Amino acid sequence: MKVLAILYKGGSAAEQEPRLLGTIENQLGIRDWLESQGHTLIVTDDKEGPNSVFQKNIVDADILITTPFHPGYLTGDLVSKAKNLKLCVTAGVGSDHIDLNACVDRKIQVLEVTGSNVVSVAEHVVMSILLLVRNFVPAHEMIERGDWMVSEVARNAFDLEGKVVGTLGAGRIGYRVLQRLLPFNCKELLYYDYAALPADAAKAVGARRVEDLKDFVSQCDVITINCPLHEGTRGLVNAELLKHVKKGAWIVNTARGAICDKDAIAEALKAGQINGYAGDVWNVQPAPKDHPWRTMKNPIGGGNGMVPHYSGTTLDAQARYAAGTKSILENFFNNKPQEPANVIVGIGKYETKAYGQR
Ligand code: NAI
Repeated sequence: MKVLAILYKGGSAAEQEPRLLGTIENQLGIRDWLESQGHTLIVTDDKEGPNSVFQKNIVDADILITTPFHPGYLTGDLVSKAKNLKLCVTAGVGSDHIDLNACVDRKIQVLEVTGSNVVSVAEHVVMSILLLVRNFVPAHEMIERGDWMVSEVARNAFDLEGKVVGTLGAGRIGYRVLQRLLPFNCKELLYYDYAALPADAAKAVGARRVEDLKDFVSQCDVITINCPLHEGTRGLVNAELLKHVKKGAWIVNTARGAICDKDAIAEALKAGQINGYAGDVWNVQPAPKDHPWRTMKNPIGGGNGMVPHYSGTTLDAQARYAAGTKSILENFFNNKPQEPANVIVGIGKYETKAYGQR
């Protein structure tokens, strides 16, 4: 079979660090294994436009492997051109870069390595909440500049203790964030999700469900976004919703950039409606050099905790999602059943409830 993998470029870092498995250089560690079974593997990071290696090779590929960190966007148009495509594997979690509805129609299966990096992301979320609330980035930048003016950073530094933190989406990552916040003695932990947490799970973290989104955001000092991107969440955090966000709240989005309206967020931060925004996901990846989220600031010059998409690609996570990708392929080649939790789109239907209410 022809396997096409769109991964990110690792450069000299990947040559020096073989555990960077998610790169075009280290190829998820599956080349020798695939070739020993008679399959062909094409690996590239060249993914944009009709002349890209991705678009040229998708037409006769049987299997597509992509990663959310450098997404190969499999649009409906490309699905219709991909005549042999049977399986899409997301090396990681989050398959919004694939037109899932088109895959349902064409009976192309879409699988993720569910759970492979959920702890990695939850830890990044807690870090990002703390760096915003404590005004860490401007404090560090001051030190690098050679300055020392405590009041300039302390004027916007707070404790997380006593704050209300809410997760928009309380699945694997959202719930792990709540678990990790317990020792901080927040005033309250809230969640907004169309699926209620099991009663014992909610009780274990003391989380209260808020069923109306505007009501939810109006109660949170910190909002952490942990739902997939789908028709029901694209642009969910827009200018209208931001009007209901508590003034001076902090938002952390490690879910997907396009859940938030790019310009509305930049404007709300600039105006001080929100005090900070952090995360690692962007509406287009790689983010253009002039993307407003790279440099946006609150009125006193802080509140930006943006980084490139890497929270779910720690070396620990890469080991897990590389092994998970191989295991999905093994099951596929040997006609064995897949782990049910990994199946996003089965043959002709969604097998998960997380990508929107249908
Ligand atoms: P999950 O499937 O365990 O949980 C998702 C939750 O979101 C579910 O409880 C679902 O009911 C809820 N949800 C869906 N639509 C919603 C809506 N409209 N409003 C409220 N809640 C909604 O998924 P998991 O593992 O927690 O991952 C969540 C997302 O995080 C992924 O889909 C991906 O986009 C992102 N992610 C980001 C990574 C990174 O490196 N930054 C790495 C891994 C995941």
